[in-house]
Amino acid sequence: MRLQAAAKINWTLEVLGRRSDGYHELRTLMQTINLCDELEFASGGKEVRVQVEGYHLAEEDNLVLKAARLLADENQGAIIRLHKRIPPAAGLGGGSSDAAATLRGLSQIWGKQIPREELRAWASTLGSDVPFFLYGGTALASGRGEIIEPLRDIPQTWLVLLAPPTELQGKTARMYAELIASHHTDGTDTKELRHSIEQGNKPDPGLLFNIFEMVADRVFPQLREYRQRLLDAGARRTHLAGSGPALFALADSEEAGRAILSRLDPGLGQAFLARSLTRDESLASGA
Ligand code: C5P
Repeated sequence: MRLQAAAKINWTLEVLGRRSDGYHELRTLMQTINLCDELEFASGGKEVRVQVEGYHLAEEDNLVLKAARLLADENQGAIIRLHKRIPPAAGLGGGSSDAAATLRGLSQIWGKQIPREELRAWASTLGSDVPFFLYGGTALASGRGEIIEPLRDIPQTWLVLLAPPTELQGKTARMYAELIASHHTDGTDTKELRHSIEQGNKPDPGLLFNIFEMVADRVFPQLREYRQRLLDAGARRTHLAGSGPALFALADSEEAGRAILSRLDPGLGQAFLARSLTRDESLASGA
């Protein structure tokens, strides 16, 4: 059995404040895109084994294994092949999406009927971003990111992604640690864009907001150059994906996106043309 695990970007990412549990209170509009990892599941054996292709993942960073261990009964086994295409630790949610796909895939092959709310609760123990990927499409996430409100699908939107090489350990925690009280906002930008999306509009580039833009250059000094390269290739604006360092630029059409991509220096990093996914596409096995 195969599942695609889609990457995400955030149309908005607002931090409202620090919580007493050490996390940050978020309002973020999230979007799955058609850059996907692929997972193949086969039941059998007495333990879960994961084979990773495409990128090297340290075992302790592999959320697929953690997700499988959550779900497995004693002596329940499976082999999971994970083919990674989403650059890890780039802000694109690859590991979280793989974890959500693992929960979906294993519950199916092991014949477990787990109510979505229970699956969501398990997903949130794996990471704040994981529950979103059980829904996909366009959604509002709040709390520490684990409370999901699915929104209507946006009209198909094309974008170009550029992921600089990175190997920063604990990158997400590091990015949150850079935030100070003056970075906190009240969720208005997210509300405004949500309203616009609910009217059936494409995300308005002028309404996109990501607080991590304010601190990203400190943590990723090379980012300035990558932004400039995207602009030189014809992007009108650049936006940080989640906590970065991947960048994205909106394109007016597939052709316009392809033109930007073709003007990017291939040695620069990982670059992709991608489009928004609908919720159904996101959860279908062939996204
Ligand atoms: O939830 P997850 O394990 O992905 O979060 C990684 C780290 O990012 C957390 O340990 C925390 O430092 C930070 N974080 C946060 N507020 C959130 C989500 C994550 O401070 N809403």
